[in-house]
Amino acid sequence: MKVEILDLKQRYQEEKVGLLKCIKRVLQKGNLILTPEVERFEKAVSKFTGSKYCLGVNSGTDALMLSLWGAGVKRGDEVITSPISFIATSNSISHICATPVFVDIDDDLNINPDLIEKAITRRTKAIMPVHWTGRVCNMDKILRIAKKYNLLVVEDAAQAMGAYFKNKHAGTFGKISGFSAHPFKNLNAVGDAGFVITNEKRLYDKIKMYRNHGLKGRDNVEMVGINSRLDSLNAEILSFRLKRLNNIIARKKKNINYYKKYLKSGSIKIIPERKSEKSSHSMFVTLCEDRDKLQKYLEKFKIQTRVYYKTPLHLYKATKYLKYKKGDLPKAEEFSKKFLSLPYHQHLSRSQIRFVCKKINDFYG
Ligand SMILES: Cc1ncc(COP(=O)(O)O)c(C=O)c1O
Repeated sequence: MKVEILDLKQRYQEEKVGLLKCIKRVLQKGNLILTPEVERFEKAVSKFTGSKYCLGVNSGTDALMLSLWGAGVKRGDEVITSPISFIATSNSISHICATPVFVDIDDDLNINPDLIEKAITRRTKAIMPVHWTGRVCNMDKILRIAKKYNLLVVEDAAQAMGAYFKNKHAGTFGKISGFSAHPFKNLNAVGDAGFVITNEKRLYDKIKMYRNHGLKGRDNVEMVGINSRLDSLNAEILSFRLKRLNNIIARKKKNINYYKKYLKSGSIKIIPERKSEKSSHSMFVTLCEDRDKLQKYLEKFKIQTRVYYKTPLHLYKATKYLKYKKGDLPKAEEFSKKFLSLPYHQHLSRSQIRFVCKKINDFYG
Protein backbone atom coordinates (compact mmCIF):
# COMPACT_ATOMS: atom_id res chain seq x y z
CA MET A 1 0.00 0.00 0.00
CA LYS A 2 1.42 3.40 -1.01
CA VAL A 3 0.58 6.30 1.29
CA GLU A 4 1.30 9.66 -0.30
CA ILE A 5 1.77 12.90 1.58
CA LEU A 6 0.09 15.07 -1.06
CA ASP A 7 -3.43 14.94 -2.38
CA LEU A 8 -3.44 17.21 -5.40
CA LYS A 9 -4.19 14.59 -8.08
CA GLN A 10 -7.03 13.14 -6.01
CA ARG A 11 -8.27 16.60 -5.21
CA TYR A 12 -8.52 17.33 -8.92
CA GLN A 13 -10.57 14.18 -9.48
CA GLU A 14 -12.95 15.08 -6.63
CA GLU A 15 -13.42 18.66 -7.83
CA LYS A 16 -13.06 18.13 -11.57
CA VAL A 17 -16.60 19.15 -12.56
CA GLY A 18 -16.54 22.35 -10.50
CA LEU A 19 -13.00 23.29 -11.50
CA LEU A 20 -13.62 22.85 -15.21
CA LYS A 21 -16.74 24.99 -14.92
CA CYS A 22 -14.64 27.74 -13.28
CA ILE A 23 -12.08 27.59 -16.07
CA LYS A 24 -14.74 27.70 -18.77
CA ARG A 25 -16.58 30.60 -17.12
CA VAL A 26 -13.47 32.75 -16.92
CA LEU A 27 -11.89 31.87 -20.26
CA GLN A 28 -15.13 32.40 -22.16
CA LYS A 29 -15.22 36.00 -21.00
CA GLY A 30 -11.75 36.62 -22.39
CA ASN A 31 -10.52 38.85 -19.59
CA LEU A 32 -8.12 37.49 -17.00
CA ILE A 33 -6.89 40.39 -14.89
CA LEU A 34 -8.73 42.31 -12.14
CA THR A 35 -12.18 41.26 -13.29
CA PRO A 36 -15.27 40.96 -11.03
CA GLU A 37 -14.16 37.38 -10.20
CA VAL A 38 -11.34 38.82 -8.10
CA GLU A 39 -13.66 41.19 -6.25
CA ARG A 40 -16.15 38.37 -5.67
CA PHE A 41 -13.44 36.24 -4.09
CA GLU A 42 -12.27 39.15 -1.94
CA LYS A 43 -15.82 39.75 -0.70
CA ALA A 44 -16.24 36.04 0.07
CA VAL A 45 -13.02 36.04 2.14
CA SER A 46 -14.18 39.12 4.05
CA LYS A 47 -17.44 37.41 4.87
CA PHE A 48 -15.73 34.15 5.86
CA THR A 49 -13.16 35.78 8.12
CA GLY A 50 -15.27 38.66 9.43
CA SER A 51 -12.85 41.31 8.17
CA LYS A 52 -13.97 44.43 6.35
CA TYR A 53 -11.53 44.29 3.44
CA CYS A 54 -9.60 41.73 1.45
CA LEU A 55 -7.20 42.05 -1.46
CA GLY A 56 -6.08 39.17 -3.65
CA VAL A 57 -2.36 39.19 -4.46
CA ASN A 58 0.27 37.02 -6.13
CA SER A 59 1.42 34.93 -3.17
CA GLY A 60 1.45 34.62 0.59
CA THR A 61 4.93 36.12 0.59
CA ASP A 62 3.66 39.23 -1.22
CA ALA A 63 0.67 39.35 1.12
CA LEU A 64 3.04 39.56 4.11
CA MET A 65 5.41 42.01 2.50
CA LEU A 66 2.57 44.30 1.43
CA SER A 67 0.97 44.04 4.88
CA LEU A 68 4.18 45.13 6.60
CA TRP A 69 4.79 47.91 4.08
CA GLY A 70 1.17 49.07 4.20
CA ALA A 71 1.17 49.13 8.00
CA GLY A 72 4.18 51.45 7.94
CA VAL A 73 7.14 49.21 8.77
CA LYS A 74 10.23 50.89 7.32
CA ARG A 75 13.95 50.43 6.72
CA GLY A 76 15.77 49.76 9.99
CA ASP A 77 12.66 48.83 11.99
CA GLU A 78 12.74 45.56 13.91
CA VAL A 79 9.94 43.01 13.56
CA ILE A 80 9.64 40.29 16.18
CA THR A 81 8.67 36.90 14.79
CA SER A 82 9.02 33.15 15.17
CA PRO A 83 12.01 31.08 14.06
CA ILE A 84 9.70 28.15 13.26
CA SER A 85 8.20 29.01 9.93
CA PHE A 86 8.81 28.97 6.21
CA ILE A 87 11.59 31.34 5.16
CA ALA A 88 8.97 33.60 3.52
CA THR A 89 8.13 34.98 6.98
CA SER A 90 11.54 36.52 7.57
CA ASN A 91 12.11 37.22 3.86
CA SER A 92 8.99 39.40 3.81
CA ILE A 93 10.51 41.46 6.64
CA SER A 94 13.96 41.62 5.02
CA HIS A 95 12.54 42.60 1.62
CA ILE A 96 11.28 45.89 2.99
CA CYS A 97 14.70 46.44 4.62
CA ALA A 98 13.43 45.85 8.15
CA THR A 99 15.17 43.42 10.52
CA PRO A 100 13.64 40.13 11.67
CA VAL A 101 14.13 39.48 15.39
CA PHE A 102 13.46 35.89 16.37
CA VAL A 103 11.89 34.87 19.68
CA ASP A 104 11.89 31.21 20.71
CA ILE A 105 8.79 29.02 20.48
CA ASP A 106 6.56 27.41 23.06
CA ASP A 107 5.38 23.78 23.19
CA ASP A 108 2.62 24.59 20.69
CA LEU A 109 5.34 25.43 18.09
CA ASN A 110 4.23 29.08 18.00
CA ILE A 111 6.17 32.09 19.30
CA ASN A 112 6.37 32.08 23.11
CA PRO A 113 4.56 35.29 24.13
CA ASP A 114 6.30 35.26 27.52
CA LEU A 115 9.67 35.83 25.80
CA ILE A 116 8.58 38.71 23.56
CA GLU A 117 9.05 41.60 26.00
CA LYS A 118 12.74 40.79 26.47
CA ALA A 119 13.30 41.15 22.71
CA ILE A 120 11.75 44.63 22.44
CA THR A 121 14.18 47.48 21.72
CA ARG A 122 13.87 51.14 20.70
CA ARG A 123 13.73 49.99 17.08
CA THR A 124 10.93 47.44 17.47
CA LYS A 125 8.02 48.43 15.28
CA ALA A 126 5.91 45.31 14.95
CA ILE A 127 5.22 41.77 16.08
CA MET A 128 4.54 39.22 13.36
CA PRO A 129 3.05 36.12 15.00
CA VAL A 130 3.04 33.06 12.73
CA HIS A 131 0.02 30.79 13.12
CA TRP A 132 2.14 27.73 12.39
CA THR A 133 0.40 24.57 11.12
CA GLY A 134 -2.88 26.52 11.26
CA ARG A 135 -3.14 26.99 15.01
CA VAL A 136 -3.57 30.56 16.10
CA CYS A 137 -0.99 31.99 18.53
CA ASN A 138 -2.05 33.08 21.99
CA MET A 139 -3.32 36.42 20.70
CA ASP A 140 -4.54 37.68 24.11
CA LYS A 141 -0.99 37.86 25.38
CA ILE A 142 0.48 39.17 22.13
CA LEU A 143 -2.10 41.97 21.84
CA ARG A 144 -1.49 42.97 25.46
CA ILE A 145 2.26 43.35 24.82
CA ALA A 146 1.65 45.19 21.54
CA LYS A 147 -0.63 47.65 23.31
CA LYS A 148 1.79 48.21 26.18
CA TYR A 149 4.71 49.04 23.83
CA ASN A 150 2.65 50.62 21.06
CA LEU A 151 3.63 48.02 18.46
CA LEU A 152 1.87 46.98 15.28
CA VAL A 153 0.62 43.42 14.97
CA VAL A 154 0.89 41.98 11.46
CA GLU A 155 -0.17 38.32 11.41
CA ASP A 156 1.45 35.67 9.25
CA ALA A 157 -1.77 33.78 8.70
CA ALA A 158 -0.42 31.98 5.61
CA GLN A 159 -1.54 28.62 7.01
CA ALA A 160 -4.52 29.77 8.99
CA MET A 161 -7.51 30.14 6.66
CA GLY A 162 -10.34 28.51 8.62
CA ALA A 163 -8.53 28.75 11.98
CA TYR A 164 -9.94 30.48 15.06
CA PHE A 165 -8.81 31.64 18.49
CA LYS A 166 -11.69 32.14 20.94
CA ASN A 167 -14.13 32.05 18.00
CA LYS A 168 -12.37 34.89 16.18
CA HIS A 169 -10.85 34.13 12.80
CA ALA A 170 -7.06 34.13 12.37
CA GLY A 171 -5.76 37.31 10.82
CA THR A 172 -8.40 39.54 12.39
CA PHE A 173 -6.49 40.32 15.60
CA GLY A 174 -3.84 42.71 14.34
CA LYS A 175 -3.82 45.66 11.99
CA ILE A 176 -3.47 43.56 8.86
CA SER A 177 -2.52 40.03 7.89
CA GLY A 178 -1.34 37.91 5.00
CA PHE A 179 -2.61 34.50 3.84
CA SER A 180 -1.20 32.05 1.32
CA ALA A 181 -3.23 30.12 -1.25
CA HIS A 182 -0.24 28.06 -2.41
CA PRO A 183 -1.25 24.68 -3.85
CA PHE A 184 -0.32 22.89 -0.58
CA LYS A 185 -2.65 25.00 1.56
CA ASN A 186 -6.20 23.98 2.46
CA LEU A 187 -7.60 26.81 0.36
CA ASN A 188 -5.41 26.46 -2.67
CA ALA A 189 -5.05 28.03 -6.07
CA VAL A 190 -3.71 26.25 -9.13
CA GLY A 191 -0.41 28.06 -8.78
CA ASP A 192 0.83 30.83 -6.51
CA ALA A 193 -1.71 33.12 -4.88
CA GLY A 194 -2.35 34.93 -1.62
CA PHE A 195 -4.49 37.57 0.01
CA VAL A 196 -4.45 40.30 2.63
CA ILE A 197 -7.22 41.14 5.10
CA THR A 198 -7.68 44.28 7.18
CA ASN A 199 -10.38 46.41 8.74
CA GLU A 200 -8.71 49.67 7.71
CA LYS A 201 -9.91 51.35 4.53
CA ARG A 202 -6.73 53.45 4.33
CA LEU A 203 -4.55 50.32 4.21
CA TYR A 204 -6.87 48.67 1.74
CA ASP A 205 -6.71 51.66 -0.64
CA LYS A 206 -2.93 51.91 -0.34
CA ILE A 207 -2.24 48.22 -1.04
CA LYS A 208 -4.86 48.10 -3.79
CA MET A 209 -2.90 50.71 -5.70
CA TYR A 210 0.49 49.25 -4.84
CA ARG A 211 -0.38 45.71 -6.04
CA ASN A 212 -1.19 47.17 -9.49
CA HIS A 213 1.85 49.35 -10.31
CA GLY A 214 0.55 52.27 -8.21
CA LEU A 215 -2.22 52.85 -10.73
CA LYS A 216 -5.38 54.71 -9.77
CA GLY A 217 -7.82 54.00 -12.57
CA ARG A 218 -6.22 53.51 -15.99
CA ASP A 219 -4.35 56.75 -16.41
CA ASN A 220 -3.01 57.95 -13.08
CA VAL A 221 0.06 56.47 -11.44
CA GLU A 222 0.06 57.78 -7.90
CA MET A 223 2.97 55.81 -6.46
CA VAL A 224 5.71 53.40 -7.43
CA GLY A 225 4.04 50.01 -7.15
CA ILE A 226 4.57 46.42 -8.21
CA ASN A 227 2.61 43.75 -10.05
CA SER A 228 1.12 41.51 -7.41
CA ARG A 229 -2.37 40.89 -8.73
CA LEU A 230 -4.35 37.75 -8.12
CA ASP A 231 -5.45 36.53 -11.57
CA SER A 232 -9.13 36.01 -12.34
CA LEU A 233 -8.85 32.29 -13.02
CA ASN A 234 -7.35 31.59 -9.63
CA ALA A 235 -9.84 33.94 -7.97
CA GLU A 236 -12.72 31.97 -9.46
CA ILE A 237 -11.17 28.65 -8.42
CA LEU A 238 -10.55 29.98 -4.92
CA SER A 239 -14.18 31.14 -4.60
CA PHE A 240 -15.30 27.64 -5.58
CA ARG A 241 -12.88 26.04 -3.14
CA LEU A 242 -13.70 28.42 -0.28
CA LYS A 243 -17.18 26.85 -0.16
CA ARG A 244 -15.52 23.46 0.41
CA LEU A 245 -12.91 24.62 2.93
CA ASN A 246 -14.70 23.59 6.12
CA ASN A 247 -15.35 20.15 4.69
CA ILE A 248 -11.66 19.68 3.91
CA ILE A 249 -10.55 20.83 7.36
CA ALA A 250 -13.07 18.47 9.01
CA ARG A 251 -11.80 15.49 7.00
CA LYS A 252 -8.20 16.30 7.86
CA LYS A 253 -9.11 16.61 11.52
CA LYS A 254 -10.82 13.23 11.40
CA ASN A 255 -7.62 11.68 10.05
CA ILE A 256 -5.55 13.28 12.81
CA ASN A 257 -7.97 11.78 15.31
CA TYR A 258 -7.27 8.34 13.79
CA TYR A 259 -3.59 8.92 14.46
CA LYS A 260 -4.41 9.81 18.06
CA LYS A 261 -6.35 6.59 18.34
CA TYR A 262 -3.92 4.17 16.69
CA LEU A 263 -0.49 5.51 17.61
CA LYS A 264 0.76 3.67 20.66
CA SER A 265 4.22 4.91 21.18
CA GLY A 266 5.20 7.61 23.62
CA SER A 267 8.11 8.30 21.29
CA ILE A 268 5.95 10.24 18.88
CA LYS A 269 4.06 13.27 20.10
CA ILE A 270 1.00 14.89 18.60
CA ILE A 271 0.67 18.44 19.84
CA PRO A 272 -2.75 18.74 21.50
CA GLU A 273 -5.28 21.37 20.50
CA ARG A 274 -6.39 23.81 23.19
CA LYS A 275 -10.05 24.44 24.02
CA SER A 276 -9.67 28.09 23.00
CA GLU A 277 -8.60 27.27 19.46
CA LYS A 278 -9.86 25.69 16.29
CA SER A 279 -6.97 24.76 14.05
CA SER A 280 -7.16 24.78 10.27
CA HIS A 281 -4.84 21.72 10.30
CA SER A 282 -2.90 23.19 7.46
CA MET A 283 -0.02 20.89 8.38
CA PHE A 284 0.24 17.85 10.62
CA VAL A 285 3.54 18.10 12.46
CA THR A 286 4.52 15.52 15.07
CA LEU A 287 7.59 15.40 17.29
CA CYS A 288 9.53 12.14 16.97
CA GLU A 289 12.54 10.55 18.58
CA ASP A 290 15.00 9.16 15.99
CA ARG A 291 13.17 11.16 13.32
CA ASP A 292 15.56 10.49 10.43
CA LYS A 293 15.64 6.76 11.09
CA LEU A 294 11.85 6.62 11.35
CA GLN A 295 11.50 8.52 8.09
CA LYS A 296 13.79 6.05 6.29
CA TYR A 297 11.97 3.11 7.85
CA LEU A 298 8.58 4.39 6.66
CA GLU A 299 9.98 4.98 3.18
CA LYS A 300 10.63 1.24 2.90
CA PHE A 301 6.87 0.71 3.18
CA LYS A 302 6.10 3.46 0.62
CA ILE A 303 4.88 5.81 3.32
CA GLN A 304 5.78 9.37 2.39
CA THR A 305 6.63 11.88 5.11
CA ARG A 306 8.09 15.40 5.12
CA VAL A 307 10.07 17.58 7.49
CA TYR A 308 8.86 21.17 7.86
CA TYR A 309 11.66 22.21 8.48
CA LYS A 310 15.05 20.85 9.49
CA THR A 311 16.47 24.33 10.06
CA PRO A 312 14.95 27.12 12.15
CA LEU A 313 14.97 30.49 10.38
CA HIS A 314 17.84 31.98 12.42
CA LEU A 315 20.33 29.30 11.30
CA TYR A 316 20.05 29.54 7.50
CA LYS A 317 22.93 30.88 5.42
CA ALA A 318 20.56 33.61 4.19
CA THR A 319 19.92 34.87 7.72
CA LYS A 320 23.57 34.70 8.82
CA TYR A 321 23.78 38.48 8.58
CA LEU A 322 21.44 38.69 11.58
CA LYS A 323 24.26 37.16 13.66
CA TYR A 324 22.37 34.41 15.46
CA LYS A 325 24.27 31.30 16.46
CA LYS A 326 23.42 27.77 17.47
CA GLY A 327 22.00 27.66 20.98
CA ASP A 328 20.35 31.11 20.80
CA LEU A 329 16.82 29.68 20.44
CA PRO A 330 17.07 26.29 22.13
CA LYS A 331 13.50 25.07 21.85
CA ALA A 332 13.23 25.86 18.14
CA GLU A 333 16.55 24.10 17.56
CA GLU A 334 15.64 21.04 19.63
CA PHE A 335 12.21 20.67 18.04
CA SER A 336 13.58 21.07 14.51
CA LYS A 337 15.44 17.80 15.02
CA LYS A 338 12.14 16.06 15.85
CA PHE A 339 9.62 17.45 13.37
CA LEU A 340 7.97 14.93 11.12
CA SER A 341 4.81 15.43 9.06
CA LEU A 342 2.79 12.30 8.43
CA PRO A 343 0.30 11.79 5.60
CA TYR A 344 -3.14 12.96 6.76
CA HIS A 345 -4.82 14.52 3.72
CA GLN A 346 -8.55 14.31 3.19
CA HIS A 347 -8.40 11.49 0.64
CA LEU A 348 -6.70 8.99 2.92
CA SER A 349 -8.74 6.14 4.31
CA ARG A 350 -8.86 4.96 7.88
CA SER A 351 -7.12 1.73 6.86
CA GLN A 352 -4.23 3.66 5.27
CA ILE A 353 -3.72 5.63 8.48
CA ARG A 354 -3.97 2.47 10.53
CA PHE A 355 -1.25 1.00 8.31
CA VAL A 356 1.02 4.04 8.92
CA CYS A 357 0.38 3.82 12.67
CA LYS A 358 1.17 0.11 12.71
CA LYS A 359 4.50 0.72 11.01
CA ILE A 360 5.35 3.54 13.45
CA ASN A 361 4.35 1.37 16.39
CA ASP A 362 6.53 -1.45 14.99
CA PHE A 363 9.46 0.94 14.58
CA TYR A 364 9.38 1.99 18.21
CA GLY A 365 8.78 -1.60 19.33
C1 LIG B 1 3.95 30.39 7.52
C2 LIG B 1 4.10 30.77 6.08
N1 LIG B 1 4.37 32.06 5.79
C3 LIG B 1 4.48 32.47 4.52
C4 LIG B 1 4.33 31.60 3.46
C5 LIG B 1 4.50 32.09 2.06
O1 LIG B 1 3.40 31.86 1.24
P1 LIG B 1 3.56 31.66 -0.34
O2 LIG B 1 4.27 30.36 -0.57
O3 LIG B 1 2.17 31.65 -0.86
O4 LIG B 1 4.36 32.81 -0.85
C6 LIG B 1 4.04 30.26 3.71
C7 LIG B 1 3.85 29.31 2.61
O5 LIG B 1 4.28 28.22 2.60
C8 LIG B 1 3.94 29.83 5.06
O6 LIG B 1 3.67 28.56 5.37
